[in-house]
Amino acid sequence: MKLALIGAGYVGLVSGACFAEFGHTVICADLDQSKVDALERGEIPIFEPGLEHIVTHNAASGRLSFTTDVKAAVRSADVVFIAVGTPSRRGDGHADLSYVHAAARTIAEALEGYTIVVTKSTVPVGTGDEVERIIREARPDAEFAVVSNPEFLREGAAIEDFKHPDRIVIGTDDEQARAVMTEVYRPLFLNQSPLLFVERRTAELIKYAANGFLAMKITFINEMADLCEAVGANVQEVARGIGLDNRIGSKFLNAGPGYGGSCFPKDTLALVKTAQDHDSPSRLMEATVSINDNRKRSMGRKVIAACGGDVRGKTIAVLGLAFKPNTDDMRDAPSIAIIQTLQDGGANIRAYDPEGMKAAAMMMENVTFAEDAYDAAKGADALVIVTEWEAFRALDLSRIKSTLKSPVLVDLRNIYRANEMEKLGFAYSSIGRPKSSQGK
Ligand code: UDX
Ligand code: UDX
Repeated sequence: MKLALIGAGYVGLVSGACFAEFGHTVICADLDQSKVDALERGEIPIFEPGLEHIVTHNAASGRLSFTTDVKAAVRSADVVFIAVGTPSRRGDGHADLSYVHAAARTIAEALEGYTIVVTKSTVPVGTGDEVERIIREARPDAEFAVVSNPEFLREGAAIEDFKHPDRIVIGTDDEQARAVMTEVYRPLFLNQSPLLFVERRTAELIKYAANGFLAMKITFINEMADLCEAVGANVQEVARGIGLDNRIGSKFLNAGPGYGGSCFPKDTLALVKTAQDHDSPSRLMEATVSINDNRKRSMGRKVIAACGGDVRGKTIAVLGLAFKPNTDDMRDAPSIAIIQTLQDGGANIRAYDPEGMKAAAMMMENVTFAEDAYDAAKGADALVIVTEWEAFRALDLSRIKSTLKSPVLVDLRNIYRANEMEKLGFAYSSIGRPKSSQGK
């Protein structure tokens, strides 16, 4: 089958490469000439484990190619996926659909023969109707169907998620489109990943509801962590205790500095706006968004408290900048607000991240970027773990301790054990766990 993806960003590139791996012929079209040039040279613009291998391997076999000529890509395809970005619109939190609408207009100009147009970008309910209207108005003669097929890829595990999805959601009531989409996903279907066929608007809402629910689950455990600190309980044990209940499930119950990334912050905000616009406000989502926003800065204050209430003139070492491990993505990363709060308090920052420093350097000022964790710790008054990279899980702690000016360690991801850290002589604090030696 011939597929075209419009937008060779995170989702477009991963999806395109994986579809090519299934045996489809795939062309990824992107307006950004330098991105296309880089991809043609085999350079991958993002850090995603395993992606480089499948891109180069499928490009070499001729199943995957890149272009800036969106119209030519559309003309050649049986199925066109819209995978352009849908950032939060400046000022009001609504999803910015201008790229999606522009893609729809371009598709309309180029359509030839029966074509399925699929929105893969995360788009508010009703966007499929709008895309259909745009194409229909421009090309009353065209034969096409507009389908919603949201992605559920986690950065850092995107290839695995694409190849072994919990489910594939396809929103359409067009019989022919159903048959074509079944063919597109046949290799996964044979692997027994359930294909869920629903109405287009339902598919659009499933994506937001899934991300909203997960964001709420994280926010819930973060609140429980605060309560654990107040009453002297252990949030990891609370999470295990509730997670073993199958109705709750154990995933996404790791307390931390608040969720970040390219999806949860923007999708929860967009869900709040959609619900308000339809006169059906979601108080749970509104609370989730505001609790999470406040949490990021409160983590900065937690560090200040660990430093005796004042960081003026002090140096704080920050380990981890990306919003989570195995990515270089800095979008809405908690590290941004934490560093800002510390800088507002007068601290100097020495930071290290295995992949995120290039992106961080473009959005942060007055931060010294270190060569590794030990270099970051050099002469610092405290060390903060913000992102749980593997490399930070097995640090040589005596070396860290002797490198620091004072042995203050704030572990915002609970990767170390409180009693062991205390034995080593650290003034150790973490999230939602007792400080005393009974803490694990
Ligand atoms: C995607 C989805 O689109 C978004 O809805 C979802 O919530 C997260 O993942 P992402 O792939 O991360 O977004 O976006 P980005 O990495 O910004 O990539 C978008 C790509 O589309 C860029 O390469 C951009 O150059 C390209 N683009 C944008 C076009 O080719 N045409 C346009 O009109 C606009
Ligand atoms: C998310 C969804 O998981 C994915 O299905 C969707 O398509 C895109 O958005 P992603 O943003 O890549 O994926 O990362 P995810 O692993 O979900 O983490 C999001 C944020 O939540 C990170 O900041 C992470 O640190 C945080 N998180 C996650 C927690 O704080 N605790 C947890 O238990 C899980």
